[in-house]
Amino acid sequence: MELNRRTVIAGAAAAGIAATTLGGTAHAAGGRKPAKELFGKLADGTKVYRWSLENGGTRLKVLSWGGVVQSLEIPDRHGRYKNVSLGFDNIEDYVAKTPYFGALIGRYGNRIAKGQFTLDGKSYQLSVNDGVNSLHGGAKGFDKHVWDVEGFTSGSDVGLVLHYTSVDGEMGYPGTLKAKVTYTLTRHGDWRIDYEATTDKATVVNLTSHVYWNLAGEGSGSIYDHELKIAASRYTPVDSGLIPTGELAKVAGTPFDFRHTKTVGADIRVANQQLLYGKGIDHNWVLDKGITAKPEHIATLRDPSSGRTLKIATDQPGLQFYSGNFLDGTLVGTGGHIYRQGDALCLETQHFPDSPNQPKFPSTVLRPGETYRSTTVHSFSA
Ligand code: GLA
Repeated sequence: MELNRRTVIAGAAAAGIAATTLGGTAHAAGGRKPAKELFGKLADGTKVYRWSLENGGTRLKVLSWGGVVQSLEIPDRHGRYKNVSLGFDNIEDYVAKTPYFGALIGRYGNRIAKGQFTLDGKSYQLSVNDGVNSLHGGAKGFDKHVWDVEGFTSGSDVGLVLHYTSVDGEMGYPGTLKAKVTYTLTRHGDWRIDYEATTDKATVVNLTSHVYWNLAGEGSGSIYDHELKIAASRYTPVDSGLIPTGELAKVAGTPFDFRHTKTVGADIRVANQQLLYGKGIDHNWVLDKGITAKPEHIATLRDPSSGRTLKIATDQPGLQFYSGNFLDGTLVGTGGHIYRQGDALCLETQHFPDSPNQPKFPSTVLRPGETYRSTTVHSFSA
């Protein structure tokens, strides 16, 4: 039987269970502010806090370190909660070992070839941290800083506002970039991310979120049985360093065709040069809707065993789908289990990788006086 979120809560009410044990409808009405607790300390003594939010049946825990989603709990079709996002239970592992678990990514999500680009006739050299390329903002990206975080309630919403200012020249990027990210949990249990940024010099920016999803629960095994649908007829093939070739290739007849629902594992072992380069799927989908004024639904992920379903809507033109290829059994996650290859997947809404060097891709340039804006909404049901 298919149940949606409201049915689960209504069922709980009928059974005499307080709504607060399942979700935040009660909180929303009461407008309870998100709470914070000490999560740990950095080597220099800086305190890292963990914020807890709950609304509409979704429970979210967020760190001031990297804006990391440390835990995201949603119910299955029987109302049973699981944390569906990979992470750690301690700050030390986030600092030393994390492959971007749950983190905010900036200034530039994904790769910039050789860490170089030219803007208005000036050449810039970025921090190189992925072979010869720059990945996810360089060696110390937005995921490796403490953000200023404030909790809020607004009508029936609860949320967090996160601020980070990246100084001119940080990781090689021009301009002081002021980033503001708002995480909102709505009364329906949707998790919405609103990104904003301004600069004082022309620069490039591409912010995203790097949650590793496993809708059966983190540490429960692989996501190859998850069903996925992506509203994209084209993707950007890459070279051996995972830099787009510039081509917008048709997904038709390739393992990258998710226009109709199929399991993540269905074609992941097909002998295909692109899959060899990525050690699986690590590619950008060119969303058919293009850049839109408002978020539009572009992908649905569903775990048939639990019924948990994630729908993603975005205003961005691209979706990086990464099938957890580099998880290699060397990390112990939140629940005490070892993470192995394919134990989670990432669906990163963003502009295309290496756009600063690809004249045919939508521009990622931000100029003084402009505001970068991007919104992604995650909706859950079971
Ligand atoms: C992104 C990249 C991948 C990998 C992961 C983190 O998804 O595209 O290649 O770097 O982040 O390991």
